[in-house]
Amino acid sequence: MSFIVAIDGPAAAGKGTISKVVARHFGFVHLDTGLLYRAVGLKMLDGTDAISAAKALGATDLDADGLRTPEVAQAASKVAVIPDVRTALVDFQRSFAQHSNGAVLDGRDIGTVICPDADIKLFITASPEVRASRRFAELTASGHDTTPDQVLADVKARDARDSQRDVAPLKPAADAVLIDTSDMSIEAAVEAAITAVQHKR
Ligand code: C5P
Repeated sequence: MSFIVAIDGPAAAGKGTISKVVARHFGFVHLDTGLLYRAVGLKMLDGTDAISAAKALGATDLDADGLRTPEVAQAASKVAVIPDVRTALVDFQRSFAQHSNGAVLDGRDIGTVICPDADIKLFITASPEVRASRRFAELTASGHDTTPDQVLADVKARDARDSQRDVAPLKPAADAVLIDTSDMSIEAAVEAAITAVQHKR
């Protein structure tokens, strides 16, 4: 049986870093499930029907260039409201979770829909302002031309779309451990996550 760590939360709360470090620490594989929706979003921007793109998605699509741009993030959250897109991506995520060494999956609905029986569920959050300022720093460091106001507006638009959709909305599972990273260093947040996982090992 695989040991499954489900990590959910809104954009730029620290999920990505926490997931990578937790996976490395415990020797688990890691899947950033946002990449699946980004890959479908990118194909939609290129003119492919989103449902067909989701049905045909394979592991190599997750290495495509351009998945980390703000435009693709918005496209991802638009295709993510389509029930058939979500359904088409379920098997890939559940198969990944069955990795015998243990698996960390991070996203929006891992603890609620994809792996409701996960061994440990974490919900990583932070205020929209803190998340936007982190994302602004990342985007400018990687050469994107944007403004703090634009990034905050994008974060809020995605939060609204992700938490108000009918299917698999962003919300903590009833049994998730909440970690609010607004006033935490990334090291402290990682430490809190490792401690929570360790308790269930
Ligand atoms: O995590 P990331 O910012 O890469 O996710 C991009 C978008 O993909 C999210 O805004 C959300 O709409 C969607 N997503 C989702 N369910 C997941 C992971 C991501 O709906 N498990």
